[in-house]
Parts: sequence; structure tokens; C-alpha cells
Amino acid sequence: MSIVILDGARRTPRADILVDNREQGLFSRFTTTQLGGLAIKATLAQTSVDKSLVGHVVMGMAQHSHRDSIYAAKGMAWRGGLAEDVPALTVARICGSGAEAVAVGAEMILAGVRHDPERPFVVVGGAESMQYPFTLYNQRGKKIGEAVQKYGPIDTSTLPAGTHLQDMLLMSLYDPSAKMAMANTAEELGRRYEITRDEADRFGYRSHVLAKKSRDAGHFKEEVEPVTVDLGDRSITVEHDTHILEDASLAKMSRLPAAFEAGGIITAGNASAVVDGAAAMVIARDKDAEKHGAKPLARIAGMGVAACDPRIMGWGPVPATKRALASAGIDGKAIDHVELNEAFAPQAIAVIRDLAKMGVDPEKVNPMGGAIALGHPLGATGANLTLTCAYALRRNKQRYGLVTMCIGGGQGISLVLEAV
Ligand SMILES: CC(C)(COP(=O)(O)OP(=O)(O)OC[C@H]1O[C@@H](n2cnc3c(N)ncnc32)[C@H](O)[C@@H]1OP(=O)(O)O)[C@@H](O)C(=O)NCCC(=O)NCCS
Repeated sequence: MSIVILDGARRTPRADILVDNREQGLFSRFTTTQLGGLAIKATLAQTSVDKSLVGHVVMGMAQHSHRDSIYAAKGMAWRGGLAEDVPALTVARICGSGAEAVAVGAEMILAGVRHDPERPFVVVGGAESMQYPFTLYNQRGKKIGEAVQKYGPIDTSTLPAGTHLQDMLLMSLYDPSAKMAMANTAEELGRRYEITRDEADRFGYRSHVLAKKSRDAGHFKEEVEPVTVDLGDRSITVEHDTHILEDASLAKMSRLPAAFEAGGIITAGNASAVVDGAAAMVIARDKDAEKHGAKPLARIAGMGVAACDPRIMGWGPVPATKRALASAGIDGKAIDHVELNEAFAPQAIAVIRDLAKMGVDPEKVNPMGGAIALGHPLGATGANLTLTCAYALRRNKQRYGLVTMCIGGGQGISLVLEAV
């Protein structure tokens, strides 16, 4: 494949949806389109591609969580500084949406049908504000207060007694086909692979330790664009991912209660953190990058997507990786760096065991930590992992990288990158 990711890809830090479980998260004032716009703007500034040469924007987003989410990729494009004549496509493959956006952008260029050869660069990425709303269902058409509710904001004081608000965050993480929440599918995978609580905690601990070490060594610096937040009376600049523990302790982690099932092994310490964030990059055919003097960072060497039993949705990276490796024409032994989304520790451990059967070295998985420490902003994560992997390959002078993630509902998506 001749598609390259350009140097200059950027992401926002990832910020917890709440501060200390008490106050609104640092990015709670941003909508998903604003977060996506921040990532696109930073990427375009760093990539040094003339904005007039961008022909399309493809952005991942899992959930329409704000009033302006319906405009999604187009909203991110204009907020990112692109002209109004740049078309934009929103893609949703739930937790895989950011990786899907990279794949769709690459496929658009390769197919050539809706690709503009005069504007050969495509911005791809993903964004997610996990500040999902609490909502009211089945009120339209009902008499509320003086009138039948047709449009507009609802005065909650006029609602009939017993009306319930639903938490869209919690409800979104429940899959009706599996009749299970995401976490319970990971508990199920843990049972099938006989993963112990201790293994899960050690994995969570490893994630925090490696993420802190990488942050302190400055490894995230080249990918993170600090974000300044206006807090009214003051402003602060968020430079780092907020969920990384400064003093991770295995002993403390082992005392946390099971978060989802009595007797379960998933806790707040070994599940992915719920955070807001966005990531973006510019891709193009290698010859177009060369023609316009743009510096490539990595080549997209292979792609794969696959589906599986929704009750073990977390296993999806295994068949998806098989396909991505085949499409790249390499085997797992050739992989130097893996970015595997850590939805939940038992899920990641099960996948790592099966990737090892394909030759992928477990030690090469998430050497900079993963979503347990860094967080998983659903629609952004795939794009985030892609640019983290691309920079790591260059920094470590390695050749092949694998980006892979599970997807609620029973899917997996994988990309193989090759350093250039
Ligand atoms: C697991 C989950 C419910 C925890 O949420 P939470 O309770 O808000 O988590 P917190 O970070 O506030 O942690 C809860 C407590 O554990 C503590 N804790 C968390 N991680 C810890 C760690 N590694 N070591 C020690 N203590 C830890 C926190 O300090 C906090 O303590 P407090 O109650 O005294 O303040 C939430 O992260 C979750 O739902 N994750 C999965 C999201 C998901 O399904 N995504 C889709 C994947 S497919």
C-alpha cells in the first residue's frame, strides 16, 4: 500500500470526565467537535501541508453526545481551520472509529473515485467527549406543562412524577445483543482464559508504570498538543493525560472492589479510564507527499477488520490482526511495537495470549502503557494509538507496528504500520 501518515500528527491530552470524582472534567466544556477541531488545527500547523491541498476529512466519533455532534467531522473540519469547501465524513465503528477513519481515508485515496487529485491530502482522526448526557425518552408528543412537547428544552419541573432520566454513558456501554455491559464481556473472556485477579491487577499496574515512565521521558511530547481551558476566573493549560497515577501501587490496586460483578476481577484499577480526547493526522499517497515536500512518518502497510461473538467482544483484535498481518504480507514475529487498546485487563491479557500464538512478542505490547492508565475516549482511541505507534517506530528505529482494538458488539480492527 502506498499511503503514508505525515509527520506532525497530533492529539489532545486525554482528560478524565471528572476531577477527583467531584468536579466536572477539564475538557467538559468542550464538545466532541471542538475537541476534534483542536486536534485537526494542531496537526495542520505541525504537518506544514498547505490547507488548500486537503481534499477530504474523515473523523471517527462513536456517540452523538452534544448538540453539535450531528455536524461531527464537518464541524471538526471548520473548527480545525479548513475551508468550507472541504467535504468531511464521520465514521462510527464504536470503539474502533478512530482506526476506521484512518482505514476509510486510506481506502478513499486508493479507490480514487471520490478522491480529489488536485487536493491529495486527507485529514483523518477521531474525537470523543465522553460527557454523554442524561436524557429523557418518550416525551415527544406528550403533554408537559401547558403544551404538547414538540420541540425545545424541557422544563423538568413540569415532568410527570416518576419520569426517569437515563445516563447515556452507562447505557451506551451495554450491548443489547450480548445482553451484557462491555465490562461483563471482558469478565466472560477472563473466565474463558482463566485469568486471575492478580494477573489483571499486575497488568493494570504495568500500564500505569509504563505510561508514567514514558510521559516523564517526554515520549508523548511529540504527539500531544497542550490544550488551554478557560475556567471563567482563570485558565489552565492541560499538558498531560490526567489519569496516569503518580504513585501506582499494586497493593492498593489489589484492595479495590470488583466494579461490575460480584466475584469479578475488573476494578477501577484495571479497566480503561473514561476520558475526553481527540487525535488527527494527515495521510496521502507517498508520491503526493513527495511532490509537495511533506515528510512521511509511517506507511500504512496492512488493514484488517473482523467480527466475533458479542459476548466476548474483547477478543476481536485476534481475527482482525490475522487479517491485517495477511494484508501486510508479514507474520507476527515481524512486529516490533504493538498498540493494543486496553479496554479491560482480562480482555487485553486474553488477546495478548492469542497474538503470541501468531508470533507477536507480549513484551512488545503497550511499552508506553495503555488505556488503563491513559484512558479510552471511544471514537478517538484508534487514531490516537495509530499516531502513538507511528512516532514510537521512528523514535525506536523499528520497522513494523501493530495497532489493534476491540469493538463493542463483537468486532476488532487492526492496522499494520511500517516506518519510513
Ligand atoms: C471501572 C470504572 C467504573 C471506574 O470508574 P470510577 O469508579 O469513576 O473510577 P475512579 O477512577 O474514580 O476510581 C474509583 C476509586 O478507585 C481508586 N483507583 C482507581 N484506580 C486505582 C489504582 N490503579 N490504584 C489504586 N486506586 C485506584 C480511585 O482513586 C478511586 O478512589 P476513591 O473512590 O477513593 O476516589 C470506569 O472506569 C469504567 O466504567 N471503565 C470502563 C469504561 C468502558 O467500558 N469503556 C468501553 C470499553 S469497551
